[in-house]
Amino acid sequence: MSASPDSTTGFGHGKVILLGEHSVVFGQPAVAAGIRAGVRAHVSPGNGALSAPAWGLEAQVGDDSLPGQALRQLLDRLHTEGAGLDFWLESEIPARAGLGSSAAMAVAIARAVAVRTGASDADVLAAAAAAESVFHRTPSGIDAAAACRGRLGQFDKQSGWQDLPLKAPLELCIGLSGQAHDTGALVAGVADLCASTPVARRLIDTMGDVARAGMDALAAGDMAALARLFNMAQGLLSGVGVSTPALDDLVHIARAAGALGAKLTGAGGGGAVIAIAAEHSDEVLRKWRAKGYYGFTTTIGHD
Ligand code: MEV
Repeated sequence: MSASPDSTTGFGHGKVILLGEHSVVFGQPAVAAGIRAGVRAHVSPGNGALSAPAWGLEAQVGDDSLPGQALRQLLDRLHTEGAGLDFWLESEIPARAGLGSSAAMAVAIARAVAVRTGASDADVLAAAAAAESVFHRTPSGIDAAAACRGRLGQFDKQSGWQDLPLKAPLELCIGLSGQAHDTGALVAGVADLCASTPVARRLIDTMGDVARAGMDALAAGDMAALARLFNMAQGLLSGVGVSTPALDDLVHIARAAGALGAKLTGAGGGGAVIAIAAEHSDEVLRKWRAKGYYGFTTTIGHD
């Protein structure tokens, strides 16, 4: 299938969380960035079909599947029926891999619908957030905000997204574990752990402190300090049980190849890691590939 001539299109960015995943759900600040790669939606007259060939996804608006239900919520928020439209997605990012595929999809579709209806940017964000609640139960909203903005920013649940300036572009290596994860289940698992184990709750607060220190490092343009904070965050995320042997392996390979810092990004439990490796980026990608992991680089602050 290809885009029809009377289709409208919209784009949603994939994202990486630099610091503060999970703790952001508890109200702490986090640092994230929309990346260049993302999802493009084409919306055209049709019968309510949703398809994303790259993910093997076929659904129908309002059917029993999570994407079908999420699309129903999104369209309701945009006051659009949807039964007379088809939704076709091209994705440059893998699904359920920590790179914000569901938020990118929701933003892309909402933007493509907004071209037809004149919905505002605020409506698009609210519609994407409604879809994210179907996918992830109690999301903080950071993924939808990063998918909309497509650049570096800080986020907390109370104030929402604020763009952050960057002194120089920041290159990140992204390594994929190849394991899909369920963000909602991981967030619920961390909440259960914190309820039963008070010291885990203190790790969450410390993650917030690490994210705040990350904002200072970014403001100072001190990427070595930021990389050290990545390593601390990885320890804390392991402590609340969201790292896995494959994520640990990716992190250790990156550090051994010369990365200054590496951590999982997003919900964990599979998904992806990010590393700051500067002149060692090629070596990190080579070493990941040698162990069977796919990796690529992305530059934050490219505009
Ligand atoms: C998922 O990309 C980030 C989490 O913090 C969940 C959320 O903020 O909604 C794990």
